[in-house]
Amino acid sequence: MSWNTFKQHYLSINELDFALDYSRIRFSNDFFQANEAKMQSAFNAMDALEAGSIANPDEERQVGHYWLRNAELAPDTETQKAITDALEMIHSIVEKVHSGSCAGKNGAFKNLLIIGIGGSALGPQFVADALGGPKNDRINTFYFDNTDPDGMDRTLDRLEGQLGQTLSVVISKSGGTAETRNGMVEAKNAYTKAGLDFAKHAIAITGEGSKLDTLAVEENWLYRLPMWDWVGGRTSELATVGLLPAALQGIQIDDLLNGAKAMDAVTRIKETRKNPAALLALSWYHATEGKGSKDMVILPYKDRLVLFSKYLQQLIMESLGKETDLDGKVVNQGIAVYGNKGSTDQHAYVQQLREGVHNFFVTFIEVLKDRKGDSISVDDSGNSTGDYLHGFYLGTREALDEKDRETLTVTIKEVNAHSIGQLIALFERAVGLYAHLININAYHQPGVEAGKKAATNILKMKQTIYELLEKESPSPLSVEAIAEKASLQNNEELIFKILYRLAHNSASNIHITSNNCPTEAEFYLQ
Ligand code: PA5
Repeated sequence: MSWNTFKQHYLSINELDFALDYSRIRFSNDFFQANEAKMQSAFNAMDALEAGSIANPDEERQVGHYWLRNAELAPDTETQKAITDALEMIHSIVEKVHSGSCAGKNGAFKNLLIIGIGGSALGPQFVADALGGPKNDRINTFYFDNTDPDGMDRTLDRLEGQLGQTLSVVISKSGGTAETRNGMVEAKNAYTKAGLDFAKHAIAITGEGSKLDTLAVEENWLYRLPMWDWVGGRTSELATVGLLPAALQGIQIDDLLNGAKAMDAVTRIKETRKNPAALLALSWYHATEGKGSKDMVILPYKDRLVLFSKYLQQLIMESLGKETDLDGKVVNQGIAVYGNKGSTDQHAYVQQLREGVHNFFVTFIEVLKDRKGDSISVDDSGNSTGDYLHGFYLGTREALDEKDRETLTVTIKEVNAHSIGQLIALFERAVGLYAHLININAYHQPGVEAGKKAATNILKMKQTIYELLEKESPSPLSVEAIAEKASLQNNEELIFKILYRLAHNSASNIHITSNNCPTEAEFYLQ
């Protein structure tokens, strides 16, 4: 790697304290020239999207997350007003919560329980962890982001005796997601058991008229904040979904929005070599041959960014992982994303990255400022812990390069609300541009819907089996007999899996006869 090559592939944007180094992607000489027309077409498609075109054709929806940080961009005054009104409402709610004029039964809110999943949880979790800390947080945040009963118990144990000072924020764009609904029901049960009225401690963030919205109206919850169908779940961190929790925590949400707005401005530039989102998208295109042939490893050398890979995993994989392209052709697209943080991961999977199967490229996130204060030396040469962290980043980058493993580096000055807003906006736009390069709809998620439908069918099957065993009670029946009697032939495996779990949960009253081989055992209800 020559100094000249580095300089030619290093885009530094001084006003944002941001840089992208794409010098370690091994572009062929004519790559940028060969793909310039495609990139220009992607820029034009992005212009149309921002102007309000139906950029999500399957769901016939506009895609408006860029308007959230610059309401004037929204294509009509009604949408502009919806954005600014929601922002005002967030500031007003937060002021009331922080001042104690909106409080729980037992006093000012000191805890926040966020109930949501996917795009309604990952962004809030990432931002809370990146920007929070025990010294500055105005509120302690907890999550129900799954329908795991034990997971919820664990969280409720942490909140024991404190629900009267806990504000629950239930987040669901659709307002009908089972995991979130279940979490809400469990939370409500816990408040009720503690002698508290859930509604007086609850805020809903959801689409107008959704089931959740209707419930919040009926039960007279504290507040309802809107989510709009033109914002996708995974791009909703800078909508009400992410902004309310962040502001309650004490994060400067205007800085988050301004960071995103500033990054939007530079990623709108149509000169490819000056546009970091375009350069990222083209780097992905080159590294994965435009078909996801390599995985994207996200390696931030900063503890505060540990959840960034999880956040990006959803943003990128749910957006790009599509069976068909926009012309209906089967393409099975996507890029697998994983990661954690450096240097920790050097003691885990980086061994394989350097020497094992060559199926990835790395995106390093480099943070220039080590910490708020000064550092002590930790060795005889005067090195600080930050010197080591940086050394490990540079060393890993070199070690990978030596073995022809490609890497990108995104550099920010420090982790703050402005730079986090920038990172969110950068990757949102890179995903949008890359989706255009590979001709797919990045804004729908039919696979997620398919999973939801399949789960509903399983629950229906469970009901049928249960009713049969109730009728036959207490006679034990084999899996095969159940399949036949319930007209569920060819579903023996599912019947076994459903009953075997139920037999391990006493409240179900389902039992299994003793047999060394569980698949040969019989099940009964008593
Ligand atoms: O990004 C998405 O669209 C999904 O991951 C959703 O956020 C997730 O399924 C939760 O949906 P909802 O907010 O409607 O409850």
